[in-house]
Amino acid sequence: MLDRDTLKYLDEALGILERGFLELPGFHASVDTSRLRAVLHDTARRLQDNFPYPHPLYAGQMLKPPHAVARLAYMLSMWINPNNHALDGGRASSAMEKEAVAGIARLFGYRTHLGHLCASGTIANLEALWAARHTQPGKVLASSQAHYTHGRMCEVLQSPFTSVTADAQGRMDMNALEDILRRERVSTVVATLGTTALGAVDPLHDILKLRDRHGFRVHVDAAYGGYFTLIETLDPDARAAFDVMGEADSIVVDPHKHGLQPYGCGCVLFRDPGVGRFYRHDSPYTYFTSGDLHLGEISLECSRAGAGAVALWATQQLLPMERGGEFARGLAASRQAALALHAQLSADRRYLAGPRPELDIVVWTLAARGRAAAGRRAQAVFDAAEKRQLYLALLRVPDELAAAWWPALARDADSVMALRSCLMKPEHADWLPRITAILDTAAREAAGA
Ligand SMILES: Cc1ncc(COP(=O)(O)O)c(C=O)c1O
Repeated sequence: MLDRDTLKYLDEALGILERGFLELPGFHASVDTSRLRAVLHDTARRLQDNFPYPHPLYAGQMLKPPHAVARLAYMLSMWINPNNHALDGGRASSAMEKEAVAGIARLFGYRTHLGHLCASGTIANLEALWAARHTQPGKVLASSQAHYTHGRMCEVLQSPFTSVTADAQGRMDMNALEDILRRERVSTVVATLGTTALGAVDPLHDILKLRDRHGFRVHVDAAYGGYFTLIETLDPDARAAFDVMGEADSIVVDPHKHGLQPYGCGCVLFRDPGVGRFYRHDSPYTYFTSGDLHLGEISLECSRAGAGAVALWATQQLLPMERGGEFARGLAASRQAALALHAQLSADRRYLAGPRPELDIVVWTLAARGRAAAGRRAQAVFDAAEKRQLYLALLRVPDELAAAWWPALARDADSVMALRSCLMKPEHADWLPRITAILDTAAREAAGA
């Protein structure tokens, strides 16, 4: 299951890296490999206790294996272990980060930008909301389907926060947003392009029209969905939203979600480089070796793995972010798999499908008289599928969405337990017949239980 063929290139590349330091007096970092080997073997055995994330039968949570080039470039840089806080700690990797981030800014249509990588979508969104609070303090709005990080980070920042109702597609409801805007002053609206639960795309184009009238900032959380701007097969509403990302004040995307990167790689971008002034600080310890911009001067975190930037840069070299390219085709294959699964579920009387996927996440429950029984059956299918090594996820669908999607279910519970599948791997398209065959067996077993 695990690609080991490409490991040989790591050794070659390490040789090239080492040649950069030949002028130093001879030094050999010696390691006692006898115990190392035993410990490493124990480590591998410990790691067996995992769901098989890289395998196409893992079709549950948002987990996607990094590309081989990202893994190898990350490992390669571990022999240097650069720190992208300051140029003192990671000259080459800081330059690579600036190039990689500039590429992402261009992808979203930013003509000017300030941005950097960070640990995660959570930290990236925190920075965006922090800069928003400095620029325009006051209330932040995000849809009830937005990631919980927005409410939580507003608590950290002590910014008031309100959820906006989601419509039946799981997108921010524009009437609900307008109602709030009529009643009170709002400083920032967060538009999610690719919600965590459903992959729903908030209508950024409509939100921007309201910004013109009400003067709030717009932050786009595209941690999950951002890269889908590259595909040609989005539905028109989603396309319209992705096409205007360049007009948002800030954008977050997570290369560690759909960007084929190891964890620890979020990215925040600001359209106005002037937000750099909020980061200004004195550091008596760093920023000495160069007058050029040190990434620590424009980020909240200090020490940060330069390896993440190296891996992202290498991936962008191998798989440029261009329409019709290999990277874009991989994303399109994921969406195609999601649409195919959704169509099959919709045509099968045993299932109740959720909305047509806007990206690559599918949600469905089991037909039953009421919500409670549907949820029990969904849980039984989840368990039966797992026994057959098909790994799905569960989602609690809130009352308002369940009422809109599945009105025939008796409302004997506040929510409905549903199955959820993130079909994030390009291979999912080819594996779909196998996935649906296991699902079929699991549903039969669950019905007989
Ligand atoms: C839309 C969205 N925003 C933010 C986050 C948080 O990102 P992270 O888990 O990288 O902190 C997620 C995670 O799933 C997400 O889907």
